[in-house]
Parts: sequence; structure tokens; C-alpha cells
Amino acid sequence: MHTPPDSTLYRQRRRRVMQAMGEGVMIIATAPEVVRNRDAHYPFRPDSYFWWLTGFPEPESVVVLVTGKRPRQYLFCREKNIEKEIWDGFRWGPKAARTAFGFDAAWPIEQLDRRMPGLLENQPVLFYVIGHDTAWDNRVTGWLNSVREKARTGVQAPASLTDARRLLDEFRLFKDDHELAMMRRAAEISADAHIRAMRASKPGVNEHEIEAELLYAFRRGGAEAPAYTSIVAGGANACILHYVFNNRPLNDGDLLLIDAGAEFSGYAADITRTFPVNGRFSPAQKEAYEIVLAAQAAAIAEVKPGNTWNAPHDAAVRVLVQGMKDLKLLKGRVDDLIESGAYRAFYMHRTGHWLGLDVHDAGEYKVDGEWRKLEPGMVLTVEPGLYIRPGEGVPRRLNNIGIRIEDDVLVTETGCEVLTAATPKTVAEIERLMARRHRR
Ligand code: GLY
Ligand code: MN
Ligand code: MN
Repeated sequence: MHTPPDSTLYRQRRRRVMQAMGEGVMIIATAPEVVRNRDAHYPFRPDSYFWWLTGFPEPESVVVLVTGKRPRQYLFCREKNIEKEIWDGFRWGPKAARTAFGFDAAWPIEQLDRRMPGLLENQPVLFYVIGHDTAWDNRVTGWLNSVREKARTGVQAPASLTDARRLLDEFRLFKDDHELAMMRRAAEISADAHIRAMRASKPGVNEHEIEAELLYAFRRGGAEAPAYTSIVAGGANACILHYVFNNRPLNDGDLLLIDAGAEFSGYAADITRTFPVNGRFSPAQKEAYEIVLAAQAAAIAEVKPGNTWNAPHDAAVRVLVQGMKDLKLLKGRVDDLIESGAYRAFYMHRTGHWLGLDVHDAGEYKVDGEWRKLEPGMVLTVEPGLYIRPGEGVPRRLNNIGIRIEDDVLVTETGCEVLTAATPKTVAEIERLMARRHRR
């Protein structure tokens, strides 16, 4: 039951980080347990950096990496406690955690304040997530001050403080085989969930009932939780980008936009599909849908090594703007409409983001002021959309159509691989699946 992860994998990750640090000490704490109300807690979810470095699942833990002549990897964690384990479940305890998770030493978390000043002595740099949590900031300042107090004995405190995120983000941006296996599983579970949702949709069903289908499929598939709050938006609700109320009945003739993804072993999937509640696209819905689908295809075609981060977005915008003209939402030359940003009335977000442990994952989008180049191992979403609120000059038949199509894409050596390709996407695929849904 308490299977440890592949400790070699995590040990090697930490070793690579230590090489990149050059010199100094890195301290990364996991997430705190958070009270929801009175004595009920939110489900615990480890800090993404900590999880990436350790695979260690318990709260109240800290990883410390010390470079130098004797490089050392330390874990601080909760002691074994039979009484507490009866109530709250298994704890590794430092002794077992040390070997199972590949550390040089592991100590009870209570010893952190006592041991940290010593570990910081004569280290030039402290790598730490600055400003994320005030209590931790104060604690780290306390350790630094206790090292400084020993200055007259010749001991030096770190002279510089570096944000650990800068360094770790670059690693997290490139997914290794283990991470890709987790992401493929998250994608697979999420694809099943979307199919389940399509099958359950019909006029009169409430958005929350469809959300329940998603949650069922996530947990059934072994995912811990949704990677973010699912958006189940029928009709006009699809034009509210972060609609999460999910409590309105679905109407005949409306589209349903679902943006939902599972989190598996910490890794997110992020899929959006838009389909007709009754299983058949109306002519207007189909016209708009085909434009977004074509925009997505154009964007995905730009996901390849050497292209910039922005290339898929530019490709999507160009197709969308031509589509807005065809739909008579906009008038003018495509280049001018792009230049002026007029298209933002109907497409106001960007075409994607990095994806990994966090749904909006770690990694810079620009390097030295220029859009970053895509490289193998990066995973990003491609999610163009079209959101048509009623307004001046908007043909009535298009009112309240909101469409987004989102897939998760891995950059490969030769181009890309769509990790979420199992989720039906063309008009024909969706209508075929939905036509069969009541005959099961
Ligand atoms: N579900 C969040 C996003 O698509 O960015
Ligand atoms: Mn999404
Ligand atoms: Mn997304």
C-alpha cells in the first residue's frame, strides 16, 4: 500500500538540480494543510516543486539540498506516531523515508529550526521560494540571522538569496519519461470523462449532473481529483470564461462547453470540448465550430521544435479572424483586424499555456525578451475559442454561442503528439457518439 516511488529517479532529479545550483543550499517546503471550515481540511495536495523533487506525499515536510565538497540531500518529515496513525493513517517517519525516497539523511520536522542554521553556514547562496508564504519567509530570516550572529567566530551567512523557482521551472518545463507516463494517464482518464459527459447530455439535464459524470470518471480512473475546477457551461454560460457555478439546466438547441481535466499523480490534463446538448449541431453552431476546429488544427500544426511559443497563437488568431469575417462578426482586412485587436471582442484569451504538475505550469514564455523556442519534452495546451455575446452588429443566429476546443500537446523531435487525441472532436465524431448514447 505504501509503495515508495522510484527513488533513483528522484535522487537523480535532485542531483541535476544541485549541479545547476553550482553552490549553495536549496530549501523547498511542501504545501501546508489548509483548514476549510472549523476542523475540516481541504484535501491535502503537495507543493508541486516539492513533489517534483521528492515524490514524498506527506504534509509537514521539507527537502534541503546542500552542495559543496560533500553534497547532501536531506528530508525533514513527521515522526512515526502510532496514536496519530490510528486516526489519520500511515506516516513514513524519517528512518523509513530516508531509504525509500533516496535521501542521505532524514530528520523529524521538529528539528528543522535547530539544524537549518548549521546547514547554511558558509554557504554563499540560499535558493528558496521567496515571498510565497510570509511565515516561511520569517522562519528563513530567523535562520539567516542566527548564522549572522556567529560572524565573529568566522562563520558566514549566505550573501545572496535566489528564487528557487527560476532554476526549478526550467527543469519542470521539460518532461521526462516518468512525467509523460503520468500525463498520458491523466489525459486518458480525462478523455474518458469527456466521453462520459457527452453520453450523459440531453435537454433537461442539469450542468451539475454532467459535472458528476466527470468526477465519477476521474475517481473511477484513479485520478486524485480534478486538476482545476471543472467548467460545465451550457448555452450563454459558455461565454463566461471561468464559469464554475455548474448549476443550470441544459436546453435543447444549446451548446455545452466542458473544460475539465483530471490530476493523476500530481499531473494535470486540461481538455475542453464543446458539443450540442441534443447531439446535433445547428447550422450556425456548426459553422462557428468548424472555424474554431480549423484554428486549433492550424495552431497544432505550428507545434514543433524551433517554432516560437507564439507561433501556434498567431496561427489560431489568423484562422479565427478570417472566420469572424465569414460569420459577419467583423469587417475589414484580416491583417488590420489582427493589428487593431478588434478580434478580441470574440477571442480574448491566449491559445495555450505550459502544462504539467500545475495546470498553468512552470516555465518562462519569453527568454531575453523574445518568445521562447519550442523544444522536445515541453507540453502545452492548444485552446482557441470563439465567444459571441449578443451585441451591436452580431447576427442573431450566433447569439450566445461559446466554443473552445482544447488539447494537450507534447513537443516531439519531429513535431508534436496530441496526448488527448482520444477525446472526440470533429462534428462527425461528436454526432456519431451522441447518436448512439441512448441506445446503450
Ligand atoms: N482550464 C484552465 C485553462 O484552460 O487554462
Ligand atoms: Mn482548460
Ligand atoms: Mn488550458
